[in-house]
Amino acid sequence: PSQRQQLKARAAELLKAKGAVLVAHYYVDGDLQDLAQETGGIVSDSLEMARFGRDHAAQTLVVAGVKFMGESAKILSPEKRVLMPDLDATCSLDLGCPAEDFAAFCDAHPDRTVVVYANTSAAVKARADWMVTSSCALEIVSELKARGEKILWAPDRHLGRYIQEQTGADMLMWNGACIVHDEFKGLELELLREQHPQALILVHPESPASVVAQADVVGSTSALIKAVVEGSAREYVVATDNGILHAMRQLAPGKVLIEAPTAGNSATCKSCAHCPWMAMNGLQGLVDCLEHGTGEIRVEEPIRSQALGCIDRMLDFTA
Ligand code: 13P
Ligand code: SF4
Repeated sequence: PSQRQQLKARAAELLKAKGAVLVAHYYVDGDLQDLAQETGGIVSDSLEMARFGRDHAAQTLVVAGVKFMGESAKILSPEKRVLMPDLDATCSLDLGCPAEDFAAFCDAHPDRTVVVYANTSAAVKARADWMVTSSCALEIVSELKARGEKILWAPDRHLGRYIQEQTGADMLMWNGACIVHDEFKGLELELLREQHPQALILVHPESPASVVAQADVVGSTSALIKAVVEGSAREYVVATDNGILHAMRQLAPGKVLIEAPTAGNSATCKSCAHCPWMAMNGLQGLVDCLEHGTGEIRVEEPIRSQALGCIDRMLDFTA
């Protein structure tokens, strides 16, 4: 067997021996996604990862994704041990929204309901009334608008603008972006569509307005996968991290998947179409964290219990 196969087998053994379950995101390495599925874990979007981790009986959760995903798991299940293959795997949205600056922004607008995207630190969530993910943001903001609430939104400006356009809610926005989705280009997408007039265009809402405007489907990673599986078209242009193609190929083997255009290629653009932080998750890191208990996520009190409220509110609302 290859080294990869050996590592995979070792990781499977360790998961079993340690009573651990693997919770993986669709953007991580395909081997990790396969392993999660083969060992009773899950590969999913951020909303379902949080719900699965909370509800699973295992006392150790291994989260293959980025830091906010590990933190959400720990906030929801403080009694469980939450490990990650690489604790340095973060997110440009999280980095671009430091808790102190965010607190000052909230203090300056006390009349607004604070809604934060999942891709934030525990300390930012501790200031929020609601957490949302891309799969429920539209629904939750529509509800808040219907209640007459004005919103303070952070940190993704593209998702915020999309939700604002769709709902007409009054939203004051933080100016953050995902370095991966921000690279998708509207003009180049128009040219690609001319070459593939029958293709369905699938776009994650962290993408720029010029890209979202051309979408047939805008949605979370799970929603985009569902669109490929259920769609009657043969060709699909996919504007999100290309880690998602692994699950799309497995679940819809006959379909033709085309990556949406970015400005550069992997030689000139390190964040084009694949998240450098998601890419830090590998089989070796998984084996190491299970073997040695490294990469453990800790969220201190009172931040943890303060952050729990906004996550619970979302999970209750979407239950
Ligand atoms: P989903 O919640 O759509 O999976 O996207 C989250 C995300 O941005 C992970 O990087
Ligand atoms: Fe963050 Fe973008 Fe990477 Fe997702 S893909 S973790 S939003 S930088």
